[in-house]
Amino acid sequence: MERKKILITGGAGFIGSHVVRRFVNNYPDYQVFNLDKLTYAGNLENLKDIEKKENYTFIKGDITDADFITHLFQEIKFDGIIHLAAESHVDRSISNPLEFVVTNVLGTVNLLNAARLIWNGQYTDRLFYHVSTDEVYGELGDHGKFTETTPYSPNSPYSASKASSDHFVRAYHHTYGLPVKISNCSNNYGSHHFPEKLIPLMINNIMNNNPLPVYGKGENVRDWLFVEDHARAIDMIFHMGRMGETYNIGGNNEWKNIELVIFLCRLMDRKLSRQEGESEKLITFVTDRAGHDFRYAIDSGKLMSELQWQPSVTFEQGLEKTVDWYLSNQDWLNNVTSGAYQKYYQSMYINR
Ligand code: NAD
Ligand code: TYD
Repeated sequence: MERKKILITGGAGFIGSHVVRRFVNNYPDYQVFNLDKLTYAGNLENLKDIEKKENYTFIKGDITDADFITHLFQEIKFDGIIHLAAESHVDRSISNPLEFVVTNVLGTVNLLNAARLIWNGQYTDRLFYHVSTDEVYGELGDHGKFTETTPYSPNSPYSASKASSDHFVRAYHHTYGLPVKISNCSNNYGSHHFPEKLIPLMINNIMNNNPLPVYGKGENVRDWLFVEDHARAIDMIFHMGRMGETYNIGGNNEWKNIELVIFLCRLMDRKLSRQEGESEKLITFVTDRAGHDFRYAIDSGKLMSELQWQPSVTFEQGLEKTVDWYLSNQDWLNNVTSGAYQKYYQSMYINR
């Protein structure tokens, strides 16, 4: 019997690589195609352990190129799509919003059009699964959590582009009946995370004894989820979630940035055999991010009650695994922080 053909976009990135690994290892009956442009955030090193498996195929390509996407879909006729490819960093979206519109909105619409074209109304056993963020809901004050019915109110160019892509996915379901599912997840952390985001940037700077740039007073709150728990939630929603539905995914694990950074410093003091309190001395408060959302928190009740999903690790366990991975994969960090990263770091952090 022919294998089911599953396309995962953005599979060389942080979360995508965990989703690809999970699908390749757990579903030998699927042929998993990883479509990635390999931007600064995409790295095939992330998939070294599975790249030779016979049910895995890598395709280098750009989701913003409509002709390329149409031809690809006509050639391979995917049964399912899990769409993660995106520009994903808020700070970069503040410097260059248009890139986010092109990749996140146009790229998503190209994929929706191509799926519609090849499926041509034959939707049995077909699915377009769109991976999104909790940032589409905007910011919270001190209380409350985002649910699936919280109105969209994105504040950054990144979250506005993701919100727009979510709306297109929903509209293709409503207008053309395209079989879709959407999930909106909170902040992820774990291995293979590019060191522009808070946790890997701090780990890298602590290792190198560089200043730890905390935006504003460090009082903003994020809800952190271990990336493998996100990948497992995607797997469950892909296979068992209801068609046309949105599921929120979160860790029920809120941290003020400054408290998280101090916690990480103490963990790394132990790992690096430093005196307790030594890494904390590197903390430096820097100019706040423009339009910085105060707090995100997710209510994952729907996912937990409908599909019995639960996070599998505590934050303490997940963070320790993450730090251990970075300490034993310094070559990976050195590779991704050489070259263009230095320029990025200069422009974002020096004289901030
Ligand atoms: P990432 O930046 O690590 O990876 C993005 C991947 O997309 C990279 O491999 C990149 O090469 C690829 N890509 C970018 N533009 C492309 C294009 N035009 N064509 C093909 N590939 C392209 O991102 P991530 O953190 O892994 O996030 C993945 C998805 O999950 C995104 O859609 C993001 O919005 C969403 N998300 C992320 C988080 C988080 O905490 N990181 C939380 C919730 C949702
Ligand atoms: P980030 O990892 O960029 O995720 P997001 O903005 O999508 O939630 O940032 C997480 C939080 O950490 C956010 O409140 C901004 C803050 N932050 C810093 O204080 N310093 C940094 O160097 C970075 C990258 C983020």
